[in-house]
Amino acid sequence: MVFNRSDTEQMASAGSQQRGPLLYKPLFESKAVSTREKEKTMSTRKITIFDTTLRDGEQSPGCSMKLHDKLLVAGNLEALKVDVIEAGFAIASPGDFESVQAIARQVKTSSVASLARALKGDIDQAWAAVRDAVNPRIHTFLATSPVHMQFKLRMSPEQVLEQATSMVRYARSLCPNIQFSLEDYTRTEEEFSWRVIEAVIAAGATTVNLPDTVGYAIPEEFGARIARVMEHVPNVDKATIAVHCHNDLGLAVANTLAALRAGAGQAECTINGIGERAGNAALEEIVMALRTRKDFFAGMQCDVDTTRIISTSRCVCSVTGSRVQNNKAIVGQNAFAHESGIHQHGMLANRETYEIMTPESVGLSQSQMVLGKHSGKHALKDRLEQLGIMLSEAHLQELFGRFKDLADAKKVVTDADIEALARGLEMRNDAQQKLVFERFLTTTGNTTADVSTVRLCVDGNSIEDVAMGNGPIEASFNAINKMLNLHVTVENFSVSAVTANVDAQGECDLRIRHNNKVYLGRGVAQDIIEAAIRAYVHALNGLLEDEQRMTVNASVMAAGGLV
Ligand code: KIV
Ligand code: ZN
Repeated sequence: MVFNRSDTEQMASAGSQQRGPLLYKPLFESKAVSTREKEKTMSTRKITIFDTTLRDGEQSPGCSMKLHDKLLVAGNLEALKVDVIEAGFAIASPGDFESVQAIARQVKTSSVASLARALKGDIDQAWAAVRDAVNPRIHTFLATSPVHMQFKLRMSPEQVLEQATSMVRYARSLCPNIQFSLEDYTRTEEEFSWRVIEAVIAAGATTVNLPDTVGYAIPEEFGARIARVMEHVPNVDKATIAVHCHNDLGLAVANTLAALRAGAGQAECTINGIGERAGNAALEEIVMALRTRKDFFAGMQCDVDTTRIISTSRCVCSVTGSRVQNNKAIVGQNAFAHESGIHQHGMLANRETYEIMTPESVGLSQSQMVLGKHSGKHALKDRLEQLGIMLSEAHLQELFGRFKDLADAKKVVTDADIEALARGLEMRNDAQQKLVFERFLTTTGNTTADVSTVRLCVDGNSIEDVAMGNGPIEASFNAINKMLNLHVTVENFSVSAVTANVDAQGECDLRIRHNNKVYLGRGVAQDIIEAAIRAYVHALNGLLEDEQRMTVNASVMAAGGLV
């Protein structure tokens, strides 16, 4: 019997029903088990979890993060015990360099990697950014598929082979931990890929990554290709083979799992599956598949602390402003909800009827300890930590004040309220902002024109303006545009209630577009108009900060500094 005992035990202790003997046989056991499978079950194989939420994940539209956010995510990833955190692409911009370096300096237990094209300048920059990490890694890449070599790189296969090898050798002269990726591996001619893999391992690559860059692979086919790499590359045992799958056909996790079964030792993934286009393989799905189907993934083991999955997922949602769909596996709001009467009946009789993993195993707290106006700072700090929110003492103190105000207005403060307060706090770090919202007054109704007066503090001076609009929110935005003489486009505007009651806090998410760049805004307040104004001001602060940084960078570069 190879059912995951830890889940069984947790379910038994968490449920009200005593668990009887298992009533089914796992699929894997019901089939004939080959000798190879039997051998695999006997030995354990460590799977390295390489998280690229902060690099590939950040490449998803609208998911860009600020330094503070990135450090917060990195802290969560470290607590989740991922093996490698890809912190960014150091050469991409001075901001990227700064955040990779800050993460490399902050993280103590996971390895920290920076991406670099197979170019000397990129590798130097990546090394400068990660060299202070406890365990630094340079991740360099070059495309190997005919279409990329011919049209993007304009290089022959022999030139690509030479460039890849020499750049790996160069990177290895700087850092002992080198990863090389064959970009668009799935569409690479197979025998050529074996030559490249062999050559970069000989040149010093410690990990060779085989990405399904365009999400084209099919699990059986991808697994078979990886198996042939293990068979045909003579020095393959000198490096770890990794896979990095995109989700264009919705197969990223399936392809990753097929590759692990075929011998790959590293899975590249992101929290909530965020990433370029349709995203990357979702970390939480890979890890929970390995854990829940230990019987099938014989002997494979990773070190991720699965009880930190929910808090990390929430942290990523909150800093990127992209929520996961309700029915998303593992981390969606409905992933552990049993709605139908038949299911609920089954669950009450024995949780195993409809539950293959426990909510506790992914960190969904079953504790219903209610926070209210009598709760102390300790209880709040505890709950924040469970939600993956780590705050400085000063921020905690500030949040505690807001929590008390809210608890006075509402009887029960829910987890969603606390998360919203914490998100609001990040936005209200007034001392560092150019624009600070002060107050608004609006006249609205179905028989009168909507007019709003908004007062902002701009660089320390209070400025007020008034405007009309289609509704009080548009009127308020128009007042701000008028006082700042701004023209931006607002997109993806949404206002929602944090909880389901009429006294709920309002939360507004929006994006503004300016010169083809997108800035995220979020605001939280008891009043939805105020929440919308705060979201707008938050996004505008992002824009102004970016413009200021670009001006500074231009003058630093002109003076021959930084990059
Ligand atoms: O998808 C891809 O090929 C990548 C590489 C840079 C690893 O992200
Ligand atoms: Zn990618």
